[in-house]
Amino acid sequence: MNGVARVRGIKLAFEEAGEGAPVVLLHGFPFNRSMWREQIDALSATHRVIAPDLRGHGASSVTSEPATMEEMAADVAALLDELRVGATVFVGLSMGGYVALALAREYATRVRALVLADTRAQADDEDGRRTREATAQRVLEEGMEPIAETMIPKLLAPSTRSDRPDTIERVRTMILHTEPEGAASALRGMALRRDQTEFLPSLRSPALIMVGSEDAITPPSDSKAMHERIADSELEIIEGAGHLSNIERPAEFNRALYAFLSRL
Ligand code: MLT
Repeated sequence: MNGVARVRGIKLAFEEAGEGAPVVLLHGFPFNRSMWREQIDALSATHRVIAPDLRGHGASSVTSEPATMEEMAADVAALLDELRVGATVFVGLSMGGYVALALAREYATRVRALVLADTRAQADDEDGRRTREATAQRVLEEGMEPIAETMIPKLLAPSTRSDRPDTIERVRTMILHTEPEGAASALRGMALRRDQTEFLPSLRSPALIMVGSEDAITPPSDSKAMHERIADSELEIIEGAGHLSNIERPAEFNRALYAFLSRL
């Protein structure tokens, strides 16, 4: 079922499917909830799956202020209030992982477990923040096409790029459907995100950390660093996948995710 909730003065679009223990899927930048198609279809057989479009993305409202990870986390928490969802598993990929960590910090009692996929705990450095701002200005001036061209080679593993034109097209379509204003707000929000490294050891919920072996944006070393700091954590490297491990290797991603959920 597709829905739209009015929360915190904005519209938040979401997909909900299945029944059972809840699992919330948080997409990356600059995508939308459709990146979770294979996970929604598989998990909804056994779980209640909720996949929102984070503000500035998909069918949710675009806001012009920097969309901080805390702002996005508060939107998700408000949506879960509307849907009467208590403690839940949050699965966040990349920017979705930043939002999942913000949720864990600000709303610890809502977190049953975390799945941190192709993400990292560090904040941007000075160079990274400058690049975010330059990219934000570029999308506002030129639209999403140039950023799609620059990002796709970094997002997907070499084998995905050579063998899976359908996947390239799917990713490009998602990027081009994102409003430039929404992308700029998210870029500025990500530039402001806090460093969560020192927070990780205080996480009390179990965590599954997943990463594509070929992830060029948040490489396996970032995942290993999180794994070392979260006591109750497991690390799963998805061989042959790049940054979009759930899209590039859905069977392997789902198997690891399902095995983790079954152990909770
Ligand atoms: C994402 O996939 O969400 C982004 O690449 C994250 C980032 O730019 O830090």
